[in-house]
Order: sequence, then structure tokens, then C-alpha cells
Amino acid sequence: MSISRRTVLASGIALPLTAPLAACDRTSAEPIPPNVPPLKSVAPSPFGTAIKALQIDDPDWVALARANVDQLTPEWEMKMEYILADGLDRPRFDRSDRIAAFAKAQGMAMHGHTLIWYAQGKEVFEGLSGAAFDRAFDGYIAAVAGRYRGKVRSWDVVNEPILDDGSALRDCHWSARYGQDGYILRAFEKARIADPDAVLFLNEYNQESIPAKGVQFLKLVERLLKAGCPLQGLGLQSHLWIDIPEGVIAAYMREVAQFGLPIHVSELDCTLRTENRLDLRSQADRLALQSDRVTELASAFAALPERQRFAFTVWGLRDTDSWYRQGQKDDGRDKPLAFDSFGRPNPMAQALVAGFRT
Ligand code: G3I
Repeated sequence: MSISRRTVLASGIALPLTAPLAACDRTSAEPIPPNVPPLKSVAPSPFGTAIKALQIDDPDWVALARANVDQLTPEWEMKMEYILADGLDRPRFDRSDRIAAFAKAQGMAMHGHTLIWYAQGKEVFEGLSGAAFDRAFDGYIAAVAGRYRGKVRSWDVVNEPILDDGSALRDCHWSARYGQDGYILRAFEKARIADPDAVLFLNEYNQESIPAKGVQFLKLVERLLKAGCPLQGLGLQSHLWIDIPEGVIAAYMREVAQFGLPIHVSELDCTLRTENRLDLRSQADRLALQSDRVTELASAFAALPERQRFAFTVWGLRDTDSWYRQGQKDDGRDKPLAFDSFGRPNPMAQALVAGFRT
């Protein structure tokens, strides 16, 4: 199985963007795109961004968020990795509470992310078995989804259940106890009890860029619905690649829309980096491809029936807010989001407006 892009990017291998480029966010050669309208004013649904609690203390971030978004998704502090960092018996809600309070104060909606994820919780649940495991699993969902009942409009109940190559569902500490479909069914049932009003989502990435994964996602959704799972929404994370062939994104949006469920473009970003070490394309060429793909996604989303346009969320506002620009992964040149590090519109912002307006 080829190493997934995410694995490569997450490994910190500095993939060459192109010949030496200015390390800063914008070279003098680059035309600054014209001003774009506030993105929430042109989006055909609530328009959101990921948020980290510390960004609430950044006035530039707050100003950019207030101008452009009306929905927030906690990027990591509403996940097990933060809430259970001190163990099952000492959950931490300080930062997720702060984000919830900020959203309320700003009149913004909140999307809960994420209750059950293969990538987290293994060490905390290690040593639990049988009824103790069940109590911890059910209790966590009840505590977290119950705490934010009335504060979130929706939840990513289960995140990323499918293998990167799309060959099957992942095996993980949750499926070891309940089975691959079983843990998903249980999580949704417990979330439904904890928050009868929230829209409950299954969230995944690369459905459009890895065809086998897209098929596996559709088959899983069909199985869950047939089993009576209270699955009410489908999350397309949309961590796009610049080399996705034209038309693939739109075709998948149409295919997944056939379930008639609300769709959340839940984590849009588009790195300019590729896995091709000999990729010498200029940043301008990459930005043009990025704009084409983002416009295609925004246009396909806008073409959905209104009842299926749940929300459109970018996974951060400024390039330097992106997970692609954290730590050793950062090569200082990627432009995966709609605004540069100074909050000025990137070509992606223009591409979003173009797509929403088609
Ligand atoms: O801020 C702390 C810092 O104080 C501390 O020194 C450091 C080392 O412990 O951790 C920092 O927090 C990190 C946080 O990102 C903020 O940068 C966490 O360790 C790190 O785990 C967290 O990573 C997040 C990751 O999910 C795992 O939760 C990324 O920000 C976030 O962008 C990423 O988002 C995921 C979605 O949830 C699911 N889809 C894919 C997407 C990208 O991987």
C-alpha cells in the first residue's frame, strides 16, 4: 500500500514545492488577489473554520473569524487527546468550554469534533475489558455529547473509520471490542441518547481522491442506514490535493448526495505540496490548480439542494494556522488555506467565492 499523503506529510519529510522560493508567505512576484467579500456572506450555508482555544487570544484571528465565519469546529481540544489527557476519571473541558463560550458570545454555531476516532483513546482504554470498557465508552460519549447539548448543532460522532487505501474498515481498539460496524453503531446510538437534537455525522477524508475509499465510504453509509443507525449527516473532510483530476470532486459530491442526507464539507484545505520529489512546478502553477479544485468543490456543494448544504468548513483561516504548517512539517512555503499569515486573501479565497457564485 503506497504511503498515504497524510503519512508522508505528517512524517515531516520536507517535500520540495519547487525551485527555491521565498520563505515568506508572499513573494513580490506574486499578484495579491483582489479583495474578496466576507466568505460567510457568499457561502450557500453556514461557513466555518477550525479553531484552537489559543486563537481566542489573537485579536487578528478573532477579527478575521468574525468577518468570515459563522460556525466553529474545535480543531483538537474537544477530542479525547485533550479531554482525557489526565485519564478517564479526570476529564478536562476547560478549553472546549472556552471555545463553546466564545462561539456563543460571537453568535457563531459550533460543530462538535470528534467523539470516537481510531487515532485516539487507545492508551486510556488499555486495560479495560468487558463491562468496564462499555461503561467507559458509553460514559465518555454521554459526558461529552451531554455537556455540549444545546451548544453544538452537530457532531462528528465517528471520524475516519476507513483504511487509507479504501480496502476495508480500520481495525482499532474500538472495533476489537464491538466489531468494525459495531463500534460505529454503538457510538451513534449513545450520541443520539446524549443529544437528541444534534445532527450526527460520519466524517472521512480522501473519498474523492482515492476512489476505493470513496466506494468503501458509500458502502459503509448504506450498511449503517440499513441497520437503523441514527446517521444523519455525511462529512467530506476535503483535504484536497492539487493533482486530483478535474471533475472527480464534483462527481463524488453528486454520488454521495444520493443518500439525501445533509453534507458537511468539514475540513477543507489544499496543500501545494506533492509526493513527487521531481515536481518542479512553480508556486503559481500549483496555486492555479488549487484554485481549480477548490472552485470545483465549492460549486458542487452550492449545487446541492438547500436541505443538504449543512455547512462548509475550512480547516483553519491563515496558512500559518494550518496543521500543514506546524512543527517540522512546515517548509514555510505551503499555502493550504484561504488567507496568508497576515490575514490577506489567498487565491483560495477567490476560488471559494467563484465556486459559491456559480
Ligand atoms: O498546542 C500544544 C502545545 O502546547 C504542545 O506543546 C504540543 C505538544 O504536546 O501539542 C500542541 O497541541 C497539538 C495541537 O494539534 C495543536 O497544534 C496536539 O499535540 C496535536 O495532537 C494536535 O493535532 C491535531 C490533530 O488533528 C490531532 O488531534 C491537529 O491540530 C489537527 O489539525 C488535526 O485535525 C485532523 C482532524 O481532527 C481529522 N481529520 C484530519 C485532520 C488533520 O490531521
